[in-house]
Amino acid sequence: MQRIGLGHDTHRLEPGDGLWLGGLHLPHDRRAVGHSDADVLLHAITDALLGAAGLGDIGELFPNTDPANRGRASAEMLAIALDHVRAAGWQLGNLDCVIFAQRPKILPHRSAIRKRIAKLLGTDESRVWLKAKTGEGVGPIGTEQAIAAECVVLLQQD
Ligand code: CDP
Ligand code: ZN
Repeated sequence: MQRIGLGHDTHRLEPGDGLWLGGLHLPHDRRAVGHSDADVLLHAITDALLGAAGLGDIGELFPNTDPANRGRASAEMLAIALDHVRAAGWQLGNLDCVIFAQRPKILPHRSAIRKRIAKLLGTDESRVWLKAKTGEGVGPIGTEQAIAAECVVLLQQD
């Protein structure tokens, strides 16, 4: 049996000292604003996993009204979601992700981010792919008011 899941997330950008993306902190002159560490890529991956398994979404598991979730590491939320997915009998097939960001260039960091995601998921990096696109200078992405990410994931069960 196979199930596919889709995750999407957006965060507002403001002047700052770098971005959490896929569990890595990248040097940048802006930061993403959010209740947690605002790692837009890990949030999209978490929602894709939960969606594929039919286990809710990141906002249900970690309500932003709960003070316990303030500043919570996105890597920890992903780990908890993955535990639920595994407990339901699912194994990871593969993930394919897109980061929507005018800057910074993601390509030079792609290998490091893939390795980090694979480690967080306890899987081989060959199962994790990542791409990035600019906003072509227009709209909230292109004018660097926002960063977004999308992820599709395939889960398998015997
Ligand atoms: O050329 P096209 O309009 O299809 O895409 P683009 O948004 O101009 O991005 C061109 C290439 O730059 C992408 O395919 C990525 O390889 C790279 N890129 C990146 O490394 N980091 C970004 N934040 C955006 C794009
Ligand atoms: Zn988010």
